[in-house]
Amino acid sequence: MQPTTPPPDVYHSEVALRVNGEPRRLTVDHRTTLLDALREALGLTGAKKGCDHGQCGACTVLVDGRRANACLLLAVTLDGSDVTTVEGIAKDGGERLHPLQRAFLDRDAFQCGYCTPGQLCSALGMLGEAAAGHPSLATDPDTPPAQGPAALTPDEIRERMSGNLCRCGAYPNIVRAVEDVIR
Ligand code: FES
Ligand code: FES
Repeated sequence: MQPTTPPPDVYHSEVALRVNGEPRRLTVDHRTTLLDALREALGLTGAKKGCDHGQCGACTVLVDGRRANACLLLAVTLDGSDVTTVEGIAKDGGERLHPLQRAFLDRDAFQCGYCTPGQLCSALGMLGEAAAGHPSLATDPDTPPAQGPAALTPDEIRERMSGNLCRCGAYPNIVRAVEDVIR
């Protein structure tokens, strides 16, 4: 009997990512989401799987500095991307908390903490977007977006963070924590 050549693996590809500043190379099934690659292949379990449908924001990470729902992105499409998860936002190997993390603690801005990694990544992304002058639905339409940083009023914070749900209802203190960092 003739030896058979195994079929080429058309279902997996290698991707190179930079995750929290570290180069990582993974071979992923093409159906693997970024969220599953982070949690299961890289052991970064900070980003949470809430709905797995892009509705709750628990899986929010930064991809090339912008907020993204990791459950909606296929890892194979992100070759060469820079990914930041909640594990990467503290400094000195986690010894020095990011000001947002400190403010969340000081303001008691969580209860169970399940949504918190996504809230923190989302808040971080929001600060960058506002600094770059990106408008939101709450931005005065008479203010053109290119006129410098957007002012983060409580309404702006609420609107810009509206993709992050919290089943514990920690919203008031989340807004206060973000305000502390803006001041
Ligand atoms: S788990 Fe991704 S948005 Fe809910
Ligand atoms: S603190 Fe429990 S879901 Fe937000």
